Amino acid sequence: MAKQKKNRTLDALASLCKRRGFIFQSSEIYGGINGFWDYGPLGVELKRNIKEAWWKDVVQANENIVGLDCSIIMHPRVWEASGHVGGFSDPMVDCRACKKRYKADNLCEDQGTELIEADGTFELPEGIKCTACGSNDLTEPRSFDLMFKTFVGPVEEDSATAYLRPETAQGIFAQFSNVLSTARQKLPFGIAQIGKAFRNEINPRNYTFRSREFEQMELEFFIEPGTDAEWHAHWITERLKWYESIGLPAESLHQDIHPEHKLAHYASACTDIAYDFPFGVQELEGIAARGNFDLSRHAEFSGKSMDYFDQEANKRFIPHVVEPSAGVDRIALAVLCNAYREEWIPKGGGEVIQGEIGKRAPEGYEMRTVMRFAPRVAPIKVAVFPLLKNKPELVNKAREVFDSLQRCWPCAYDQVGAIGRRYRRQDEVGTPFCVTIDFDSLEDECVTLRHRDSMTQERIAISDLIATLHGQLA
Ligand code: GAP
Repeated sequence: MAKQKKNRTLDALASLCKRRGFIFQSSEIYGGINGFWDYGPLGVELKRNIKEAWWKDVVQANENIVGLDCSIIMHPRVWEASGHVGGFSDPMVDCRACKKRYKADNLCEDQGTELIEADGTFELPEGIKCTACGSNDLTEPRSFDLMFKTFVGPVEEDSATAYLRPETAQGIFAQFSNVLSTARQKLPFGIAQIGKAFRNEINPRNYTFRSREFEQMELEFFIEPGTDAEWHAHWITERLKWYESIGLPAESLHQDIHPEHKLAHYASACTDIAYDFPFGVQELEGIAARGNFDLSRHAEFSGKSMDYFDQEANKRFIPHVVEPSAGVDRIALAVLCNAYREEWIPKGGGEVIQGEIGKRAPEGYEMRTVMRFAPRVAPIKVAVFPLLKNKPELVNKAREVFDSLQRCWPCAYDQVGAIGRRYRRQDEVGTPFCVTIDFDSLEDECVTLRHRDSMTQERIAISDLIATLHGQLA
């Protein structure tokens, strides 16, 4: 029953996302392609707002953090040094009966148990069954390479093999020395990057949550050895605050601390920030203290120094790193899930009830679907309506107001249908404010400002509109 309810939430959200232009299936006209998604006009604004919020708070707000934008395809040695070639794989199992393929750890997790791992090999625990057909005739877990391969140049031969990057982080490590010598930074300092990453996931699932093409926002924060624990704690606190700043409530966020026996041999700590999705608590971001593993490996494989020279202490060393690594698409999905509401509004006025998703509103109530986005991430900030579309004086005034607001924020203009319906259309895409121009506006130069969440309205002078909205959208 609970699972059904969760699926209903995700189904209702996916339907709204398609209907209103947030997310489309990639190549839909050809039947789609599993694990790939396109963002429509509203989705692209939402994602841009998330990336801009991250860039502003992580890069712009910290004078010791600089940005970088690396190529997606890099020298294949990068991936040998990082350990991805030969090491970046997931154990998968196939059902011999119905041929369905699973990521072995997900299959075990779904059945309330854990994949058995010993000396780098994997084994299924007793009693694991195929979730699709119920058969227990499953293959042993086998490694499945997650990196997408391609060829650089006209000849498809082994020496021309290259990879689509499975993470943005390695570009940062590979450019460490260039950034260090050009950005005039001292430890501690960070290099940040936002960009696409590609993983040939065995089992893309949960809508956009696990995709084969996705975007990452990664920070490599370089520190003095010995300060790892302190900076790891610092970034966990900072990142949790940031998630709240984009509207995810503290109680929906969780910390998943990796136990020591599950850490990579070079890592001293790793904590995931997870969100309470309709399909369970799942990772948004990993924050890892990775020691000097990555820089050391690149020094070893490239033969180039990755040293930092501390002038004051007159010592040379390879810095350690703390890495907060987040997925844009997962954050966008969390923001969408968190915002989605079906509310029941009493027709004669009174208290609004939080409706049950997918259920009809009771007698005497009407239903409104509303995306309660934090203003910071809302794709459209303000919508402008003339009361009537066939009165040129109202339309002209509304266009004038719209033009002035559009210079400040992404805005919408709508003159079709009754005002109530226009409010509902904007509620459904999460527009925090609507502005209506009526006949009085022509006399008193005031408009009606309507608030999405409370549905309250106030009269406000056109000359004060931009300043008021600036205050409320900040
Ligand atoms: N450089 C470290 C790194 O890439 P990761 O935990 O593999 O670590 C970091 O990935 C983040 O990237 C995850 O927390 C998640 O938000 C996002 N991510 C990873 N795989 C993903 C996938 N298949 N689909 C969507 N997002 C993904």
